[in-house]
Amino acid sequence: MENNEVLKNMNSRFSCRRFKPDAVEKEKLEAVIEAAKHAASGHNLQAWHFTVISTEQGKKELLGAVGPEPEQFKKLAPKGATWPHPSDFYGAPVVIMISYDPNAPWPEAGVFLAAGNIMNAANALGLGTCCLTVFSNDVFNTEDTARSKSKFIPDGYKLYVSMVLGYPAAVPAKRPERRDDVVSWL
Ligand SMILES: Cc1cc2nc3c(=O)[nH]c(=O)nc-3n(C[C@H](O)[C@H](O)[C@H](O)COP(=O)(O)O)c2cc1C
Repeated sequence: MENNEVLKNMNSRFSCRRFKPDAVEKEKLEAVIEAAKHAASGHNLQAWHFTVISTEQGKKELLGAVGPEPEQFKKLAPKGATWPHPSDFYGAPVVIMISYDPNAPWPEAGVFLAAGNIMNAANALGLGTCCLTVFSNDVFNTEDTARSKSKFIPDGYKLYVSMVLGYPAAVPAKRPERRDDVVSWL
């Protein structure tokens, strides 16, 4: 099994937290999103939406749309930086926001399968990814931001998770250990 390329790819994925500034080719972004669209979803409703932001202006607008600086960002801000500041993208050129229709059956499960496909497809293409919890429901789904968020999320949808993507500037020397106590074989 250890020579299987798909398994090798899945087992080598890592959360990338330092990116090169290089732009990511459109074909690669399209391939990654195509993989996301092939994830399983409840009743095959595919009730997800992927917002791909690959311009500096787009990222700036995203930060602006969040509203007042959320507490989570304050911890991450570079010294002296004023809000909005792009400190939480780890230097990645691309941000992908994954939102879902909350009225679909088991929508969160579907979006996370899609997120997994994005991460594995990106890794196969030499790209790094990292989920960002700071760009999830709690900072973006408030009534106050409803108007400004509409550019990023379809009407009635909720943001589930955001992810940064780009060419890794660094690969962790040691990957986090995997637990052995999480499986029962019957
Ligand atoms: C739902 C979810 C949210 C995450 N949020 C963050 C985050 O906000 N910032 C971050 O640096 N990493 C985040 N991560 C990455 C995890 O810390 C990482 O997956 C874990 O430490 C295992 O490391 P690996 O992905 O390199 O295998 C998140 C991962 C998931 C699945």
